[in-house]
Formats: sequence, structure tokens, C-alpha cells
Amino acid sequence: MAVTGRDLSVAKEFLIKGELVAIPTETVYGLAGNALNEKAVLSIFEVKNRPAFDPLIIHTDSIEKVAIYVSGIPEKARVLAEKFWPGPLTMLLPKKDIVPDLVTSGLDTVAVRVPNHPLTLALLADLTFPLAAPSANPFGYISPTAPHHVDQQLGNRIPYILDGGECEVGIESTIVGFEHDETIVYRLGGLDINEIESLIGPVVLMPHSTSDPKAPGMLKSHYAPRKPLHLYRRDSMTPGDETTGYLLFDRYLEGADRQFQRLLSPTRDLKEAAHNLFANLRELDGLPVSEIKAELVPSSGLGLAINDRLQRASVPA
Ligand code: TXA
Ligand code: MG
Repeated sequence: MAVTGRDLSVAKEFLIKGELVAIPTETVYGLAGNALNEKAVLSIFEVKNRPAFDPLIIHTDSIEKVAIYVSGIPEKARVLAEKFWPGPLTMLLPKKDIVPDLVTSGLDTVAVRVPNHPLTLALLADLTFPLAAPSANPFGYISPTAPHHVDQQLGNRIPYILDGGECEVGIESTIVGFEHDETIVYRLGGLDINEIESLIGPVVLMPHSTSDPKAPGMLKSHYAPRKPLHLYRRDSMTPGDETTGYLLFDRYLEGADRQFQRLLSPTRDLKEAAHNLFANLRELDGLPVSEIKAELVPSSGLGLAINDRLQRASVPA
């Protein structure tokens, strides 16, 4: 098991030595290593069992530091950075040579983000290198939103988990890139795209039905529990047998065991639903159930990102 604690100097020391530390962010926990140290970056891929073609996000604590690693920041990106960083927004920007190709899987853009968590911001401010950090889960599984989630799955592979409590947002950052004056959303996430559009105008949604790993972020099957998950609209959801678990939006399902039901938000608040999504899914996965029936949430605002995760967690009908 990893040591879990709040000691920034311990985290810093491991990172300087090229070792990995799990760090809290407002979205999900990250599996962090020195982004400029190829050995550290390699061990991120190893520990996560992540294919080398799936690039990593680098994290720093300011726009000024981002500028060290990218060769240009388009005007729209600057506007977004000033408004939403620190926050659940990742931007794809042209990389400088200082960023190892290993981090970007050979792409000429690098994904950058300033996360909004006080402990991690303090840590980043105190480091002379950025942190490469994918979500701290084995590749393909549900992302961790609490320190014990990380410990359960990667605890025997890393020395330290920096304990920042539960992640407030609960789903990964929204990823955007810029091409020919267009803003392209590669992954729906914790920043509502309406907020982006109200600032810089319309965005283009990149469809992610592809299994082409070069298409950013977006392997089709992802965020998945071990139990098969089936998706329903509420009006077509019926109770299964006594080994069925239920992930529901705001109210329990009559005729099914309450013990095996989890609600995302009794008040129909999509922020709360996002916050609870992965933790509830993980809990259901750990119950003695053989399948999970999940309800789609209203498809607006953060609901789009939640439904995207549910879709990718589900088995094809
Ligand atoms: O909220 C988050 O973004 C969390 C926290 C820890 O910051 N991180 C996270 O990382 O979700 P990860 O590795 O699980 O997902 C990052 C996604 C990957 O699917 C990857 O394909 C995409 O970002 N990505 C990274 N660099 C890219 C690039 N240069 N071009 C396109 N996609 C990229
Ligand atoms: Mg991930």
C-alpha cells in the first residue's frame, strides 16, 4: 500500500527522484511524474498499463509556465486560460522540443492544464518541472475521485498519494484544440461547453465513435466498470433480477432492492451528479451484482459529459 498523506515536501522529493505520486485535482486524481524525465514518463505508462500511443496531459500552475513548453498560444486559448485556469480545461497547443515525444506520443501538440486544487497548485509552484499526469486508474477503468480509490488499484505500484480529499468536479477536464480558426472539443468534461462558447463563440464537437487511438482522447470503450453496464432512458428502465445494480439520476426505481441502487442527484443538479458519478459507479461495481443498469441524465450542460462517460462505460446493446 502507498503512504497517503498531505506532506508536500515528501511528494516533492519523490517527484524529484523520478518517482510517481498520485495528486489530487478538482476533476479526478492524477498519476503524476516529472514530465521532462523520460524514465518517470515511461513508468507512468507502465504503472497504468497504458498504451504508448495515448498521450499525457502536462500540469503547471500558471499561463506563464505553460509558455515555457508551448511554441504559441492562440488568442482564443489565451482568453480561455485567463477565464478558466486554474480549472477543468485542457488545451492542445503546439509543443516545444523540451517536451519529450514520449509525453505526446509523437504528436506535435501537447495537452496542458492548470488544475484547481490548493495542494497541487502549491506543489506545482514549488517544482522546476511540469507534471505529466493521466487519471490515476488502470487503463480503461473508472477514474479515481478519492485517495482510497487510487490506493485500491495502484497502491502497491507507487510510494505516495497526496491526500486532497474528494475531487469536487468528479469528471475529467474538457479538452479543446485549435485548428484553422476553429475551436474543437476533443473530450467533453468538467467545464460546460456553453461556458466556452459564451466566451469565444461556437465550438466544433469531435465525434469519438472512432477506435483510432490518434484521435485524441478518445478510445471508444473507457471509464468502464468490470460488471457489464447497460444504458436506459428512465421511462424504459425496468427492474432486473436480484443481482442487478442501478445507477439512477434522481429517484429510486420501484420494485428493485434499494441496497443496490445509487442516486446521482436527488435534486437533479448536474454538478452534483458529475461529482458522484465515478464514486457511485465504483461502489456498484464492488457490490455482489452481475450487471449494472444505468440511467441517462438530461443531455444539456454537464449532462452531455456525464452521458458520454456512461456511453463509453456501457457494453454495446
Ligand atoms: O481532468 C483531467 O484531465 C485528468 C487530471 C488528472 O488532470 N487527467 C486525465 O488524463 O484525464 P488522461 O490521460 O486520463 O486523459 C487525457 C486525454 C487522453 O485521452 C489523451 O488521448 C488526450 O487527453 N490527449 C493528451 N494529449 C493529447 C494531444 N496532444 N492530442 C490529443 N489528445 C491528447
Ligand atoms: Mg483517463
